[in-house]
This record gives sequence, C-alpha cells and structure tokens, in this order.
Amino acid sequence: MLAVETSCDETAAAVVRDGREVVSSVVSSQIALHAVHGGVVPDLAARAHLEAIGPVVDEALAGLAGGWDDVDAVAVTRGPGLAGCLLVGALYAQSAAVARGLPMVGVSHMAGHVYSAWLSDPSLEPPYLALVVSGGHSDVVALRDHGDAVRLVSTRDDAAGEAFDKAARLLGLGYPGGPAIERSAAAGDPSRYPLPRTRVAGAMSFSGLKTALRYTVRDLGLTALTDEGTPRDPAVVHDLAASFQLAVVDQLLHSLATTADRVHATRIAVVGGVAANSALRAAVQQHFTGLPVTLPPLSLCTDNAAMIGAAGWQRLRRCGPDLPGIAVDPTLDEYA
Ligand code: KG4
Ligand code: ZN
Repeated sequence: MLAVETSCDETAAAVVRDGREVVSSVVSSQIALHAVHGGVVPDLAARAHLEAIGPVVDEALAGLAGGWDDVDAVAVTRGPGLAGCLLVGALYAQSAAVARGLPMVGVSHMAGHVYSAWLSDPSLEPPYLALVVSGGHSDVVALRDHGDAVRLVSTRDDAAGEAFDKAARLLGLGYPGGPAIERSAAAGDPSRYPLPRTRVAGAMSFSGLKTALRYTVRDLGLTALTDEGTPRDPAVVHDLAASFQLAVVDQLLHSLATTADRVHATRIAVVGGVAANSALRAAVQQHFTGLPVTLPPLSLCTDNAAMIGAAGWQRLRRCGPDLPGIAVDPTLDEYA
C-alpha cells in the first residue's frame, strides 16, 4: 500500500506491506519555510506540498523493485488538517489510483496517530488506551477493536503541542516549539517557577498554564526582557522551559492515569508529535510499571505516512475501498 500524508507541514509518503511492515517512509519537512513566520502559513504549505509530492512519492517507491507496478492500493489522509494541504494529497492519490486502477482509501490523520502504536509494536492489538498528543489534539482515546475507537478525554482549549509552540514563542525559542522547549529544559530547573496544574474533571486544559507563563515572563520586569519581550538571561529561559514542560507532562500523565484506572485499561500507548518528548516518555514509563506501554519511535510520533498506511490497511480490510472523489474534511473527527 502506498500512503500519502499532506495534512499540515510535512509532505510524506510511505510504502507499507500488510499494514505493519514499513518498506519505506519519506518525510519532507517544511520547517525552514515556516520558521521565519513563527508558525505554519497555510497557503505556503499547500504550494510546498504541490512541489514536493511527486519527488517524495518517487523516493518512497524506490524501495519497490517494480515501482508503481508493485503497488496494490493507495491510502491518503482526508482530514483533519488544512484544507488546501489536504487537497493536494487527496487529488494526487486519487488521480494515481484512478489512472492505475487501484483501490483507494481515505484515512483520518488521528486514526493514523492511534495506529502508529499498532504499527511500531508487533505485540500490540486492541483494546488499548492511547494518549494522542499533537499540534492540534490532546485526547485520551480507547481503541476497543479495529475500526472501533471512542474518545474519553479531550482538551477544553489548546492542544498540548500548540501550548508548547506558544510557550516557545514567549521564551524566544524557535519553531516548532516542542523540540525547542525540550532542548532548553534539559539545562533548566523545573522547580524554579511554580506554574499551575489545571484539573478539570474528564478534560484537559492548557490555556491557564499558558497565561501563567505569560505573566511570569512579564513579572520578570522590563530590564530583564529583550525588545521582543522574551527573557534575556538564558538561565531564566531554561528554568521557565523546564517548569513549563513539567507542568504539561503532569497534566497529560494525570489525564492518562485517571482514565486508565477508570476504564481498567490493560495496555497503554502514547502517540502524536508530543509523544516524542523524552520527559513525557519517561514519566509514562515510570508511572505504568504494571501495564505494557507502547511508545513509538520518534519518526512515527511526528507526522509521517507510514501510520496512514497502517490505519488505511485496516480500514480497507474492514470497509473496502472508497469511491473516487472522496471529499477532504478539515474537521474530520475520527480515530479509527
Ligand atoms: O503530530 P504532529 O507532528 O503534527 C500534528 O498532527 O499536529 O505534532 C506536532 C506537534 C508540534 O506542536 C510540536 O511542537 C510537538 O508536536 N512536538 C513536541 C516535540 N516534538 C514535536 N512537543 C514536545 N516535545 C517534543 N520533543
Ligand atoms: Zn499529526
């Protein structure tokens, strides 16, 4: 199966055999393009996908002796994501599938993240409980069976990744914020700035934490800040980054742990871009000593097409192919 993913700022293609064996996985990142703007610019992203999609698919197919002739099916992300970006991948995949007479399936990006755990761990089968933490989502999802997922917890406001990205901006660290905060936090003291832990029953929330960070920075006083309003002293930045990261990890672990208790989860997975965070990975591993925990490798945490191949293969098996002309859905709310 050839899988294509263009929902946000990575142009990705992968070849996955029988849902679980990654033959090739290629990701072309647009980070440099968007970094100067401090975030993803949708129109620029869609244009960059148009330029990259052909070469990225060619590179993914280079892993097959027969190239396109060895492809049996096509999967593509149809949502959620940026409309213009989704359209590039969906039109490319559908054109290729129609031209070659191949079955095609539209896949939810969030199902892809949930299935990245199944893809990375041959011993993992549903039911499992997944903490899904990305730039757009912070959810706890139970995959009860293939094709049967239920969201048990979500965020009331920002997603965890979005909170990392905004915090990085407040601290004058680069984009994307998650990796920048993690690098800075490694040299910091997480106990120096006490930041709040929001506790909302059955939900997550990061806006209070973000505001608290903003006020903590402001209260450093004008002389401690650059013209851009970020802290001058690198030690202060490191300590704030460490304090912020710990507060986010605390909140995510609390939500995951209380939900796992409530539903008597037997297996745990952490997926999505924020699952690349080593403090989160360590905290989850430390907490769930009695339960098997799946933490996909970093390359399967951040956006990639291999996870779309895994979710797409399951979907194709269960539901059969989609008809040509599948609509993209920027607000698609589906986890399997
Ligand atoms: O899953 P993903 O690649 O794209 C979306 O579906 O949104 O997640 C991207 C998010 C960004 O907000 C990024 O800052 C965050 O994941 N992220 C991290 C780390 N690596 C990426 N957050 C914390 N620590 C990291 N190491
Ligand atoms: Zn994602």
